Amino acid sequence: MPGPLLETLNGQIHDIAPVWLMRQAGRYLPEYRELRAEKGGFLELVYDSEAATEVTVQPIRRFGFDGAILFSDILIVPHAMGQGLAFMAGEGPKLSPTLLEAKLDDFTSAHERFDPVYETVRRTRVQISDDVTMLGFAGSPWTVATYMIAGEGSKDQGPARLLAYRDPARLEAICEAIITVTIEYLRGQIDAGAEAIQLFDSWAGSLAPDEFERWVIAPNAKITAAIKQSHPDVPVIGFPKGAGAKLPAYARETGVDAVGLDESLDPAWANSVLPEGMPVQGNLDPLLVEAGGPALPVRVKEVLEAFEGRPHVFNLGHGIGQFTPIEHVEQLLKAVRG
Ligand code: CP3
Repeated sequence: MPGPLLETLNGQIHDIAPVWLMRQAGRYLPEYRELRAEKGGFLELVYDSEAATEVTVQPIRRFGFDGAILFSDILIVPHAMGQGLAFMAGEGPKLSPTLLEAKLDDFTSAHERFDPVYETVRRTRVQISDDVTMLGFAGSPWTVATYMIAGEGSKDQGPARLLAYRDPARLEAICEAIITVTIEYLRGQIDAGAEAIQLFDSWAGSLAPDEFERWVIAPNAKITAAIKQSHPDVPVIGFPKGAGAKLPAYARETGVDAVGLDESLDPAWANSVLPEGMPVQGNLDPLLVEAGGPALPVRVKEVLEAFEGRPHVFNLGHGIGQFTPIEHVEQLLKAVRG
């Protein structure tokens, strides 16, 4: 029996919007922090299927979300491509050597790193109830490339954007390699039990319009087409964070089934420019959930009303912050579900 989240992604409208939150498994939950401390680190959690399953299920148990997102990271793809990956406490990810220091050919691919992640999907699928949708995901090629090139998060994705101008053929080859591995990885997640997938293009917003066509729309279209070919019934959610006015082109040209909206977009505007009937996901500001207060339920209602008459999955505009109080998440759920 498909749950309300999967039905919404397939175009049905529900009186009560299904809800899940980006980064719903993670540091704002005391039970996550406890298990992470016990396992020693983030990657140790990801590659331990039993622990990763527990972390995936924790927010479902606590809040009853309509979707369970696989506990993993977009940077597992570069790791499987053979790039070194470490998560330093409080510092964010480090990839080495960077693609400014080395070539892709220097890496020895290690696709067996995907196996424990697939196992997490299998284990989670049997632990959650049938009406909770199992969500798989991957990073989009541009966003993943920005990390592979700089070796870390960068303020304006400058190193990758410079490479796009200086040596577009090289960036094209990097994106093609990421596309190939990402398609394999997503198909593996689906075969293990993922019922819908999300493509995170967290740094789509830093590109100029022509660049957006080439590095955001085209690669997401290729991945979506490949998934449609092998798994036509699995909805693909595209999340082009920061797309702004380029959102309608993204929605029309990538072939994704649904679009995730970040908090910078006016939901009424998005509703007016997106194709009729296309499911949307979003887009409450995660910082409003962290702040809490009377504005939270007011804004939740505004988002819900803007998407009345369209399939809508309630979510945040970006990941939930690590300092968000649990009670504010409860307040949010009450506002969505009544
Ligand atoms: O949403 C979920 O609950 C599922 C798991 C998930 C994580 N990362 C776990 C994680 C997902 C879907 C992601 C996606 C991800 N990872 C993105 C795209 C979405 C976005 O937030 O823009 C990006 C850009 C990354 C790369 C990444 N991973 C960074 C930059 C960092 C460090 C910054 C940070 O938030 O800590 C991570 C680490 C990370 N990924 C954590 C978690 C729970 C924190 C690790 C810890 O416990 O310290």
